[in-house]
Amino acid sequence: MQPLQVPPKQQGRLLIHNIAGLVQTGMGAFRRGPAMKELPILNNGYLLIEDGLIAGMGPEEESPDGIDRVLDAKGGWILPAFVDCHTHLVFAEWRNAEFVDRIRGLSYQEIAQRGGGILNSAEKLRRLTEDELFESSLQRLLQSAATGTAAFEIKSGYGLDTESELKILRVVRRLKQVSGLPIRATFLGAHAYPAEFRTDHAAYLRILTDEMIPEIAAQGLADYCDAFCENGFFSTEEVDQLFTAATAHGLRPRLHTNQFTHSGGIDLAIAHGALSVDHLEVCDDREIEALLKAPGTAPVLLPYAAMFMGLHHPPARKMIDAGLGIVLASDFNPGTSPNPSLSWTWTLACTQMKLLPEEALNALTINPAFNLDFQDRVGSLAPGKEAHLLLTKPISDLSFLPYSAGQPWIDRMILHGNPDFLAN
Ligand code: NIG
Ligand code: FE
Repeated sequence: MQPLQVPPKQQGRLLIHNIAGLVQTGMGAFRRGPAMKELPILNNGYLLIEDGLIAGMGPEEESPDGIDRVLDAKGGWILPAFVDCHTHLVFAEWRNAEFVDRIRGLSYQEIAQRGGGILNSAEKLRRLTEDELFESSLQRLLQSAATGTAAFEIKSGYGLDTESELKILRVVRRLKQVSGLPIRATFLGAHAYPAEFRTDHAAYLRILTDEMIPEIAAQGLADYCDAFCENGFFSTEEVDQLFTAATAHGLRPRLHTNQFTHSGGIDLAIAHGALSVDHLEVCDDREIEALLKAPGTAPVLLPYAAMFMGLHHPPARKMIDAGLGIVLASDFNPGTSPNPSLSWTWTLACTQMKLLPEEALNALTINPAFNLDFQDRVGSLAPGKEAHLLLTKPISDLSFLPYSAGQPWIDRMILHGNPDFLAN
């Protein structure tokens, strides 16, 4: 496969017309409970793009003149690009050998205890130069974009020493500069205890709180701080210390929690005003109640990772019916979710969690845009927002898309208003 390139921003006025449905029109709002079904659609319309931004839209018969380039959508639909608010896409190597170990009966935790898993990824990453890591990560970012995603949160966490964590975050900064896409960076130094600190957690915690966090904050390398709160990884007491330091340095918390056990992480994250609690494969009614009282802490659900690990899916239907607004993300990483495609996430959310196609699409566009504070740039079709768009092949209606994951329903992926990034 040829390396993908960041497309130049489109210049001038581009008209896309003959669009059967423009999906998710308007500035939008974070949608919760019954509002998760609301999805504004404009049928039989045009979309005008100017210098990489959405400039207007309306009924086909009102299509404007004075256009530099015209694209006939031929009855396809236009969607805002997906927004992925949980990825680990800066990594060194795939881990398919562990995938086979798990088929043979080893658990994720057993592999981790043997020095595999996250520690395996860290060992490989430490050996790469920053340029090597950047080049492979840029390709993964663009391959993710080719599946329909144009805004990302990217975590560190495969370095686990000060220099390597900084290296990852510098790579994320370069990805942001080179791609021009909306990208947020998350410091995840508390992903696993490095082998050298297995018996001295306090010493690694001191490095996280007294060395890494101050340095990352001073260099402006991260927006958020995350941790893996789970049996065998970080306890609530340890995460509490970490988040106290992170918040003091202006890094807002997010938390991997309740993937395998009731770790207590949901209550702790809420107490620290975290922006999200991610995974929640294990989540009971009391924890749903606690989240209802904390509207600033969004449940981020990762159905591809749950499926890949053979876990029960989180109780997403129950959460929405209780009034919560949920976010869906890929968790793209080499261990538990080696697939960046949010169209697969869309399908799994519908089939495994019983979300309606509209609910899941809100959880993949406008809700994560708000969660990452990118609502002015992406997440819906509105004048002034960046023109990162999916143009579909002709379809009967929206439900065909999650129904048919894996089929090539993307006709064009438009990035920065440029329709030539990917044309099928
Ligand atoms: O979100 N759960 C912790 N972190 C990742 C997996 C990381 C890995 O196995 O490399 C996750 O699933
Ligand atoms: Fe993750």
